[in-house]
Amino acid sequence: MTVLDAGCGPGRLTVSLAKSAGATGRVVALDLQPGMLMRAKVKTDAAGLRNVEFIEAALGSNVLSADQFDRAVLVTVLGEIPVCEAAFAELYRALKPGGLLAVVEVIFDPHFQTRGTVTSLAYSVGFREQQFFGHRLAYVIHFVKPPGN
Ligand SMILES: C[S@@+](CC[C@H](N)C(=O)[O-])C[C@H]1O[C@@H](n2cnc3c(N)ncnc32)[C@H](O)[C@@H]1O
Repeated sequence: MTVLDAGCGPGRLTVSLAKSAGATGRVVALDLQPGMLMRAKVKTDAAGLRNVEFIEAALGSNVLSADQFDRAVLVTVLGEIPVCEAAFAELYRALKPGGLLAVVEVIFDPHFQTRGTVTSLAYSVGFREQQFFGHRLAYVIHFVKPPGN
């Protein structure tokens, strides 16, 4: 699988995503802070992973080409993004039809976003909710880009 770690930060999730993607899979780790990307690269290098590409860019600036990802994760990033609609639109476009976006929000994050906010943003660009895990203060929502879109 090809997986997008959107707002990868220091690579907390990037290593496990790359291990899960395996030698035939690929992870794209995107963040707007070069320092974060460097920290993530140190981690993937230390783990001997060669299937990670790093992109320094703002999600929502349309740097990602269309229909390339099977999965995308957006973990405690949304509240830091100034124009969330553009970010969701780019995630939607970059996923393959049938692809899955996992959004994680946790109340301890100072930029926490409610389930209602996340869901209405996702629906506004075409995503459909597939599954909800957790509770209103700490949750994962899986959104699907409908097949055929
Ligand atoms: C709280 S950290 C979360 C990092 C990682 N996802 C995790 O769970 O450990 C948020 C990250 O999102 C990045 N970020 C904020 N706005 C962004 C944007 N528009 N595009 C890409 N990355 C962004 C920040 O630079 C930061 O590294």
